[in-house]
Amino acid sequence: MSSTFVWTPDGSDQAVGYYSLVAHTVTRGSLPSKLRSGRRDPIPAALIGKLALAGELHGEGLGGQLLRDALERLVVASRSGPAFRVIVVDAVDKAAEGFYQHYGFQPVPDRPSRLVIHVGRVAEALGMNAARQ
Ligand SMILES: CC(C)(COP(=O)(O)OP(=O)(O)OC[C@H]1O[C@@H](n2cnc3c(N)ncnc32)[C@H](O)[C@@H]1OP(=O)(O)O)[C@@H](O)C(=O)NCCC(=O)NCCS
Repeated sequence: MSSTFVWTPDGSDQAVGYYSLVAHTVTRGSLPSKLRSGRRDPIPAALIGKLALAGELHGEGLGGQLLRDALERLVVASRSGPAFRVIVVDAVDKAAEGFYQHYGFQPVPDRPSRLVIHVGRVAEALGMNAARQ
């Protein structure tokens, strides 16, 4: 079960980027220590299930904008819908891991392809009001 959002150029129905978002949970013990606060276990999360940009558009900053689009949507969702604390991604390869780390995602111990970030940190970085935490 996911919601998928697609980028199309003006005047075209050709998909050039997309991401999908899924409600998720993570066990508290699986998170980096700084994200383990509170007693709730498992911790409500949102998963970026897929995120990809057409190859001919790579390297122009649009991948970062696509991620920003997904993160803004998640921050809004976290304060207007069911609350969640962390955003999770499962990077498809080392390059994708580097991309997410560039934006502050942290690898999860024992599962390096999985990265997480606190939704409050994202809200702060994007200059959006902090979500309910
Ligand atoms: C991941 C992806 C969306 C990145 O798109 P992109 O257009 O190449 O990235 P951008 O040009 O927007 O880069 C944005 C920033 O991330 C940085 N970055 C990009 N790839 C990086 C990497 N592998 N390691 C570290 N930083 C990286 C860029 O240097 C840039 O930094 P800046 O804003 O400080 O200049 C794109 O490569 C893609 O669709 N890949 C295939 C699918 C995929 O791997 N999806 C993610 C995992 S599910």
